[in-house]
Amino acid sequence: MRLPFLDRWLKKESPPPTKPKYAPRRRRVLVTDEDDDDEARPPHQGFLSDRKSQFILIAALVAIGLTAGVMLIERRLASTATDASPDRPAQVALGRTLYRQHCSYCHGVDREGHEEWRPDTPVAAGLAPSLDERSPAVDRTDRQIFEWIKFGGQPFLPASMRSQMPAFEFNLTDAQVWGIVAYLKNRWPEEALARHERANRGEP
Ligand code: HEC
Repeated sequence: MRLPFLDRWLKKESPPPTKPKYAPRRRRVLVTDEDDDDEARPPHQGFLSDRKSQFILIAALVAIGLTAGVMLIERRLASTATDASPDRPAQVALGRTLYRQHCSYCHGVDREGHEEWRPDTPVAAGLAPSLDERSPAVDRTDRQIFEWIKFGGQPFLPASMRSQMPAFEFNLTDAQVWGIVAYLKNRWPEEALARHERANRGEP
């Protein structure tokens, strides 16, 4: 007995594997028939389905979180600092901003001082000295520079001389003044900074 429909059914090739129902669609725009060779395509992997990319994502998030945390802590420390370090980026950045706002008018944008100022210009000549590596400030201690800024020049000069260096006591917090000291130190080249650190230690 022949059962034609069974013959047909048995001979029938299995249908080509269908694509998974919810597989994300490929970009349609640029796909041509030639591109559409399924064999050449690697097996589909969902976004971040493999361990390696998950690890990379988590590591990146942790790194971003840590960096943000450190920056916040550094900024917090800069706003409560009681000393000046040229190696604290947040403190130096704070000092740079404040310097531009309060000091560059007299001491120059690049801390070069009044254009007529020379290292042998006497104090109280009415010319703002440079605050770069040529500055007399290099040979002062951190504390002395801090006090020059906080109290102005007058307390450090004989009563017969008039200082043009204003006091910033009421315009800047102590931490802000330390920020400016940190900025000045940060910009000094190695040799000047070494000299300054000797002054800090009370060495000749
Ligand atoms: C109005 C101009 C003026 C402004 C603004 C000013 N200074 Fe001065 N500064 C001077 C003059 C002038 C002197 C030199 C002393 C004098 O002749 O009175 C001086 C001296 C100094 C000294 C001492 C240098 C040394 O070691 O002999 C430091 C440090 C200093 N200024 C830092 C600053 C900082 C930091 C700021 C901003 C917060 C600032 N100054 C703002 C005019 C100014």
